[in-house]
Amino acid sequence: MPIATLQLNGSSFELPLIVGSEEEVGIDITKLRAMTGAIVYDPGYGNTGSCESSITFINGEEGILRYRGYPIEQLAQQSDFVEVCYLIIYGKLPTKEEYEAFRTKLTRHTMIHEDMKKFFEGYPRSGHPMAVMSSMATSLSAFYPEVDDPEEIDLNIIRLLAKFKTIAAFSYKKSIGQPYIYPRNDLSYTADFLHMMFAVPAEPYEISDVVARALDLLLILHADHEQNCSTSTVRMVGSSQANLFASVGAGVCALWGPLHGGANQAVIEMLEMIHADGDNFQKYIDMAKDKDSGFRLMGFGHRVYKNFDPRASILKKSAAEVLEAMGQQDPLLHLARRLEEIALHDEFFVSRKLYPNVDFYSGILYRAMGIPVDMFTVMFALGRLPGWIAQWKEMRSDPSTRINRPRQIYTGATERDYVPMERR
Ligand code: SDX
Repeated sequence: MPIATLQLNGSSFELPLIVGSEEEVGIDITKLRAMTGAIVYDPGYGNTGSCESSITFINGEEGILRYRGYPIEQLAQQSDFVEVCYLIIYGKLPTKEEYEAFRTKLTRHTMIHEDMKKFFEGYPRSGHPMAVMSSMATSLSAFYPEVDDPEEIDLNIIRLLAKFKTIAAFSYKKSIGQPYIYPRNDLSYTADFLHMMFAVPAEPYEISDVVARALDLLLILHADHEQNCSTSTVRMVGSSQANLFASVGAGVCALWGPLHGGANQAVIEMLEMIHADGDNFQKYIDMAKDKDSGFRLMGFGHRVYKNFDPRASILKKSAAEVLEAMGQQDPLLHLARRLEEIALHDEFFVSRKLYPNVDFYSGILYRAMGIPVDMFTVMFALGRLPGWIAQWKEMRSDPSTRINRPRQIYTGATERDYVPMERR
């Protein structure tokens, strides 16, 4: 049994090692405090494994990403988002019958309860759609209360996967004052979403196969990413035995932040700002290197990838292909490529291993599809939903799961007596 030895205060402690299927090594400290009275300290959890998981593997040094062992490059090329949802959630590629049954179930649950439409009426048009997505996801638990029945939980998984895109499209229609377009059972997952987003009652909406395929690719690339901030939030909330809808509602909020899923919106806003400033990218590269500037090159850097993010490489290629297929030019794509080229040869970025991440090019594609900037993070959430669901399901079905409750190192005042107001 491999072990690690800890020397502390003149004593020696043996800690077991846990080794994963890809030879990752973890020091098992589950008994550390009982053995030594000490805890470990790791703000941001950069060196801490929160769980064992068999869903997604990332090797940040080699730029490897696999869902259930299948390389992201192969899934991006050969699969579709519905199949990847099945793979990530149920752990295997579906047979044709399983795929059709799953797709049919998703299709039959895309409608939201008519009473939920009233919720949209209360939001101001200017409200950010991530606020809507989080509250609507959580509100589904009011319509479909969770019972401790595996079949009911599986049905709620289908309901959430199916209704989330309807809620996203309805939130967009509400924000532009257009009537909701209801789901259509004759369309694929991505085509149905595009139809709900862009169709209007007055005229037929022609769905572009190029756009529907590009959307499939974007959703596949975002589908899971092991224990990132929002997924860890879903696990944290679910560990108290909160229901799936509430756990995902919390994950939506975590994803919203500009350091996480909100980065795709921040990237486009940054590129537009640089473009408006005469494409003066060197000025912004210099600002990103100056800590006092408060400016970061959004879409660059990653906690895990210390080499290229394989998703960014795929999206960079796809952005050029989709724009060409749509006969579109986007000056921001040229600008993004120049920024990447300069940054990757600049010692500041090279020494810190800062490479483009998934958010650097995704916004260019969303723009080409006509998706508004404030919906970009909603698109990230749409893609990440199967990952959140799978991780929540894995956590809840693991008998060793305990409520997540980290410790701390207290640095506040030591004991002191209360002083009555008149004597302060
Ligand atoms: C996602 O975890 C996941 O898997 C997330 C994700 C997923 O699929 O779920 O991959 C999706 O969230 C991608 C990341 C999107 N965010 C951004 O693009 C925002 C810009 N990037 C950063 O803020 C940053 O790189 C993070 C948040 C992504 C990572 O932060 P870390 O790991 O805490 O790194 P850090 O902030 O400690 O930075 C290390 C150094 C620092 O400099 P020094 O203190 O060593 O001098 O690199 C610098 C940072 O100042 N740095 C940057 C930078 N990112 C890091 N400097 C300029 N521009 C940047 N973008």
